[in-house]
Amino acid sequence: MKKYLIKTFGCQMNEHDSEKISWILESIGYEQAESQEEADIIIFNTCAVRKSAEDRVLGQIGELKALKREKPDLILSICGCMMQREDIVEYITSKHKHVDIIFGTNNIHKLPQLINRYEKTGQTVVDIVEENREIDESIEANRKYSFKSFVNIMYGCDNFCTYCIVPYTRGRERSREPENIIAEIEKLASTGCKEVTLLGQNVNSYGKTLDRDYSFANLIEDIHKIDGIKRIRFMTSHPKDISDDLIKLYGKLDKLCDHLHLPVQSGSNKILKAMNRKYTREDYLKIIDRVRAVNPDISITTDIIVGFPGETEEDFEDTLDLVRKVGFDSAFTFLYSVREGTPAAKMEDQIDMEVKNDRFQRLMEVLHPFGLEFNKKYLGKEVEILVEEVSKNNEKVLTGRTTSGKLVHFEGDKSLIGELVDVKITKAKTFTLEGELVK
Ligand code: SAH
Ligand code: SF4
Ligand code: F3S
Repeated sequence: MKKYLIKTFGCQMNEHDSEKISWILESIGYEQAESQEEADIIIFNTCAVRKSAEDRVLGQIGELKALKREKPDLILSICGCMMQREDIVEYITSKHKHVDIIFGTNNIHKLPQLINRYEKTGQTVVDIVEENREIDESIEANRKYSFKSFVNIMYGCDNFCTYCIVPYTRGRERSREPENIIAEIEKLASTGCKEVTLLGQNVNSYGKTLDRDYSFANLIEDIHKIDGIKRIRFMTSHPKDISDDLIKLYGKLDKLCDHLHLPVQSGSNKILKAMNRKYTREDYLKIIDRVRAVNPDISITTDIIVGFPGETEEDFEDTLDLVRKVGFDSAFTFLYSVREGTPAAKMEDQIDMEVKNDRFQRLMEVLHPFGLEFNKKYLGKEVEILVEEVSKNNEKVLTGRTTSGKLVHFEGDKSLIGELVDVKITKAKTFTLEGELVK
């Protein structure tokens, strides 16, 4: 049997695409390789969101030149968001001639054909589809876990935040039909799935491209009715489109997890406007108040970019101030990275790296104490954990997550993986909790 290896970079959308690629390869007779050396095909599923992500991919592809020389039959393939950029495809085909198959985010279903074409001709195959409005419902996924699953509810993005490459790499926004989503989740539930994470670049605008009146809140209510599903999560929601109906569900549906990831990006109204985010800091703070009024235990996390073009010290102070006012459980923080082809790349007043790094450091200092403070609230409490895996550092220790998304370590037998168990929290750290299994 031929063997494949997939290396995935970027967001959950990409992780889930890799699960689909894995399913496609297994349906044509491949099996998963344990190592690079053992593989007959290696696929890089790439991310273009920041330059650092791209550099990592290009570095690793360069490193494979030697392996390809040793094993000329090895097929090396690259797909994902970077491949939707013409300049990058050109760079790879000229500088990395050991790459055999290049495809994009809109045509993963064609992989068997592309492999076939490469095997017949021995010529580099490049197949990129610029735009795809159709949704292919025939591809399934080889999910990494049986008890928690990603489910796409929509594809693409129409928001064009001025810094962001995703609308160019993922095309126009389109929602899947609710019936297809529900059927997929019912099937997952029937094979033991307990937790679903609904995926979209802006789940709050789910339904806009459907030919009927059906919203994200409607979808969650319908998923809530599915037996076997115990937890519902989603990623990512945009503040400009969050609805009252959705906020109310946090007080109504016990399966909806006590977690909201709501990227704010900046606390300065001037910068939010330049980013084309279409909300103000006041709007954002109001949303947080409304959500906490409905569910005081909810954990709130966010994404923040520092050093967007034109960000002054005052703008940055506004971000720090918003962080203090909200009190985020945790945040993904990024240095602004120029993405060619986006409006922000052409903006004047790009910020020096030194200033960006300094602001990044100061942001961490404000963020981190909140993490510890919020985690301390769990001390002595019994919380329900979905057990995910054995700890990488200690085989007697299991890790799992609370409904609020906190990572918990505790001693237990690996037969508990995939189960919901009660754990008493005994120790709180900035990023994780520790506890004891309640018998
Ligand atoms: N659709 C999601 C985010 C997808 S990208 C949303 O709108 O929330 C994930 C995060 O990467 C973004 O929230 C943003 O914080 C960050 N990001 C995107 N483009 C970036 C860039 N050019 N430089 C730095 N960070 C960026
Ligand atoms: Fe990028 Fe904005 Fe779309 Fe998110 S909503 S993917 S940040 S353009
Ligand atoms: Fe990266 Fe594409 Fe996701 S650019 S963040 S992998 S949608």
